[in-house]
Amino acid sequence: MKFKIFSLSESVHYSKKIAGECNLQLGKMNTQIFSDGEINVVFDETIRGEIVVLVAQVQLPYHNLFELFVAIDAARRASAKEIICVVPYLPHSRQERKDDTRSAISSRLIADFIEHAGADRVITLDMHSTAIMGFYKIPIDHLSMHNIYIDHIKKEFDLSKVCLCSPDFGGLKRIKAYKAVLNCDMAVIHKERMSPNQINSMEVIGDVSGKDVVIVDDMVDTGGTLVKASEILKSQGARSVNAYCTHGVLSGDALKKIENSSLDTLYISDTVSHSDLPSKIKLVSSVELVSKAIQFIISGKSLQELG
Ligand code: R5P
Repeated sequence: MKFKIFSLSESVHYSKKIAGECNLQLGKMNTQIFSDGEINVVFDETIRGEIVVLVAQVQLPYHNLFELFVAIDAARRASAKEIICVVPYLPHSRQERKDDTRSAISSRLIADFIEHAGADRVITLDMHSTAIMGFYKIPIDHLSMHNIYIDHIKKEFDLSKVCLCSPDFGGLKRIKAYKAVLNCDMAVIHKERMSPNQINSMEVIGDVSGKDVVIVDDMVDTGGTLVKASEILKSQGARSVNAYCTHGVLSGDALKKIENSSLDTLYISDTVSHSDLPSKIKLVSSVELVSKAIQFIISGKSLQELG
């Protein structure tokens, strides 16, 4: 099983850990940014005939995303045999349909860019909507923090006191999958937004009084959903409110908002990188999961046991 792992410029910490799990050193790749902002990626070692794994935490700003397209193109032109892109968090995933008459479907556009640049396969985690897979013709290996978070919840909480909660109806299927394993109570919040990133109203459906509420969501972005949800859940008697979100996008003043909120603990994975997190936010690593997936894929082994 021979392959090389390369990191995009803002994913080095995460990529090194993945390479370590695979008993490899990171390959040598260099990204230059010119004075006008243009990006150039150069592989500083041969990749001719090799399986190349590109690890790309492509949280915005956009140069991270563009660096991925350029790196794929460079790998293709340097005669890599296969290009596997690890994109743990796929940006634009909430723009997977037309909500307005004359708007774009930019999630599809990202898929087109990745595919047309020359990627052979994408590994990602907890997509906002699995329908996004249909935007790609290349294989998408869709991993989930589900099993890791289940084990974590079992260790952290007394399950007889836990009430799982979805912060919107879109997450109902996800929360039911957690309930099927954990066998505890569940609630759902009816959330209405007046505009993107702005919540209008929330209504809790279910009894949360005296419970340790555990919200599960695919991502936390501005933190608006979690802050408002924790307020309303506490006002309805919840003993504690905690959340497990795969992608800690944490844009704008989300860190401050969460730190000052009534949310007790937020667990996020490391699909998006952050240099500093407040004490209320704890990291649960996806490195082992992603590393196993890479090795299984390259050795032709089923990913089913990874969940
Ligand atoms: C929405 O459908 C998503 O699952 C998240 O609940 C949402 O994107 C979180 O965004 P924010 O943190 O900005 O409320």
